[in-house]
Amino acid sequence: MIDLQPGDKTHDETRQGEALIVDAPKAANGKKLYIESYGCQMNFADSEIVASILSDKGFETTGDYSEADVVFINTCSIRENAEQRVRNRLSQFGAVKRRNPNLIVGVLGCMAERLKSKFLDEEKLVDVVVGPDAYRELPQLLGEVESGQKAINVLLSREETYADISPVRLNGNGITAFISIMRGCDNMCSFCVVPFTRGRERSRDPFSIVAEAQDLFNRGYKEVTLLGQNVDSYKWRGMDGEEEIAVNFAGLLERVALISPELRIRFSTSHPKDITDEVLYTIAKYDNICNYIHLPVQSGNTRILELMNRTYTREWYMERVDAIRRIIPDCAISTDIIAGFCTETEEEHQDTLSMMDYVKYDYGFMFCYSERPGTLAARKLEDDIPEEVKKRRLSEILAKQQQGSHYRLQQFVGKTVKVLVEGVSKKSDLDYCGRNDQNAMVVFPKTADVKAGQYVDVYVDKCTSATLLGTIVNH
Ligand code: SAH
Ligand code: SF4
Ligand code: F3S
Repeated sequence: MIDLQPGDKTHDETRQGEALIVDAPKAANGKKLYIESYGCQMNFADSEIVASILSDKGFETTGDYSEADVVFINTCSIRENAEQRVRNRLSQFGAVKRRNPNLIVGVLGCMAERLKSKFLDEEKLVDVVVGPDAYRELPQLLGEVESGQKAINVLLSREETYADISPVRLNGNGITAFISIMRGCDNMCSFCVVPFTRGRERSRDPFSIVAEAQDLFNRGYKEVTLLGQNVDSYKWRGMDGEEEIAVNFAGLLERVALISPELRIRFSTSHPKDITDEVLYTIAKYDNICNYIHLPVQSGNTRILELMNRTYTREWYMERVDAIRRIIPDCAISTDIIAGFCTETEEEHQDTLSMMDYVKYDYGFMFCYSERPGTLAARKLEDDIPEEVKKRRLSEILAKQQQGSHYRLQQFVGKTVKVLVEGVSKKSDLDYCGRNDQNAMVVFPKTADVKAGQYVDVYVDKCTSATLLGTIVNH
């Protein structure tokens, strides 16, 4: 597993508890907002939208919840333990609320959507519950709470993409940023709660995406990550002046790549059933589209994949990996894997391990299966793999992934890689850190003439289990 730190760019949805702090609003209303995010990058991107909406109404953000007037927690429902973490955190906010009864506590995001008004019954300290498509209503909902009522809006939308809201970005590094290109998911993988918490899939218009990326670039950002649960099904149809056009994901990638060769493009998540050769050729064609694809396999066994409703087979997945290797030979590939899905046998688990041998993933995010209420699997299948068996299978998967990550990192030793300098290394002020094209973290000694946001060539002389170490040879 990659070492997750606040601000890291990963696909892992177990990031937790980061407060978002943004610039002071233009016309302050004297109130302070504290917002903490859990879950996937889409949730973190949403918190920036929420902060933007409330900053427009005069709220100032704070990194200290004990001095806040409004505390929001943007929640994740993907696994049981993600929800448990949120409940634990809420009980800490409860202690503050007992001291300051005027404090407004709000629950946003996927758990708000999943539990709806049940939240207000279960957690007495919660004043407001708002689902992911209702953030524009937040100022009004806060008004309702101030007048003494509890407030809730969990309506899902078929259209909302927040396209016109430019997210405020702070406590980032000023170099890399996320851009949501779509919302929701239409896939219905049987284990997954996301279609229920995020609603139907919809694509944001490409002009607002390109404008946002261009604006970031103008402000000194050098890397954007395009976000969606299934970016390969991005599809937009509409007018470009007089002409009706359709833009697919390959087309969108190209439009963003053309902003500047100095702007790196990353994206996540690709779905094995939908990733096309056209997308792969587009990645190969543009140097600034990073050679890195997050292609979650979930399981290496066709029967389990079918029960998961992933709509591809083991062979299909392998063929897509072969296509990536053929079209983009130095492409990094990462994955998500679920251990111990319903009815999984030892042989089927072995198929996942052999798939890992086949691909030798650069990174992996691996989890024990956690049954989510309301999903297809919860309704139709028995969660019959004992917890200790799930854990043992997971530990085998984790061990295999460590080998894969190490193998991939070693391929860079003795080579020179292009790195976007993101800032000072977490471990030492004397070192810089940044990522290469394939998303590997590279650490190297600082030099006076190099600044964050610059591209440098680094000669890699060794690697640790998760990091490449080297020295600048050119910039
Ligand atoms: N849209 C992405 C995944 C989003 S959720 C995709 O299709 O790949 C991120 C990861 O969480 C999933 O890839 C899956 O591996 C894991 N996950 C989702 N539901 C889960 C559950 N019920 N139990 C365990 N892991 C789960
Ligand atoms: Fe969940 Fe599947 Fe949609 Fe990913 S593609 S968000 S796993 S339903
Ligand atoms: Fe979690 Fe919702 Fe993302 S359930 S993983 S925060 S879409």
